[in-house]
Amino acid sequence: MKKKILSGMRPSGKLHLGHLFGALNNWIKLQDEYKCFYMVADWHALTTDYANTSEIEENVREMVIDWLASGLDPKKSVIFRQSEITEHAELFLLLGMATPLGWLLRCPTYKEQLREIENKDLHTFGFLGYPVLQAADILLYKANSVPVGEDQLPHLELTREICRRFNNFYGEIFPEPQPILTKSARVPGIDARKMSKSYGNAIALSEEPESIKKKVQQMFTDPKKMRANDPGHPEGCVVFAFHQIYNPDHKTLEDCCKKGQSGCVDCKRALTKMLIDALEPLREKRMKISKDKKLVNDILEDGRIKAGKEASATMKEVRKSVFKARVAEKSNR
Ligand code: TRP
Repeated sequence: MKKKILSGMRPSGKLHLGHLFGALNNWIKLQDEYKCFYMVADWHALTTDYANTSEIEENVREMVIDWLASGLDPKKSVIFRQSEITEHAELFLLLGMATPLGWLLRCPTYKEQLREIENKDLHTFGFLGYPVLQAADILLYKANSVPVGEDQLPHLELTREICRRFNNFYGEIFPEPQPILTKSARVPGIDARKMSKSYGNAIALSEEPESIKKKVQQMFTDPKKMRANDPGHPEGCVVFAFHQIYNPDHKTLEDCCKKGQSGCVDCKRALTKMLIDALEPLREKRMKISKDKKLVNDILEDGRIKAGKEASATMKEVRKSVFKARVAEKSNR
């Protein structure tokens, strides 16, 4: 039996290179070795966007198209939408009963986002409970491993704690899930901050060549390298960060840059070409997939059925353990 993986992403619309190198490439690689469940976390989107849900439908569709174009394969992996499997909500409720408030209040991502996100009221029960819902997502499928980016580690640690506590009260139901960390280099946004749609510094997987060209031109470079033959410092240079990903010969470039033998204009021109070439097949696949109006829905429907089977089996077991068999027998779902 293959070990199981679950991971998810909030539907934020078209994905960017940060998603690809932070998570998606890893998801794709793991498809053969594990039984994978990949989830559109649309309920998690509501934790911050409950007041305006108008974009969620479109965002779900665009994200799934990017998943497929990048190489997630519905023949290998179960691709589904969280809100279609209502067992997530039931397990969320039960886990919530046993989750100490302090664990949630102390969660670093909670404190950080309350501070940083100013245009939305995040003083809600749902936002505080974000990690409990995430724990439900993972435990519902008895996932052994969870591929995540570094930013998600505190959530996974909470899942593990909730898992241990629950197992302690009700018996060994859930395996304790382990993180699979994405090792790849962190891709900066064009302004050198973390790549994020909300910072306006992202390059989309579906970015048009003209727009790629413009964005590379705007990329931050070493401020001390004023002329082409000034010695450069590739460490903090955004253009070099991308060369490290896309240019097999980046070591030579690094040497030349440090010695002042190559200039930023040439370096950007070379990167533009590499990026356009790398994203071209993705854009083509994307276009084909979007033309088929039914495809995404069909894949999500197939995923709903497969994920639903697992979810309902786990919940039968959970109900039985929590209520010591009594209530479980009455429900014949
Ligand atoms: N919190 C994750 C993110 O923002 C999304 C997510 C929801 C998730 N449920 C999950 C990730 C379960 C891994 C496992 O990216």
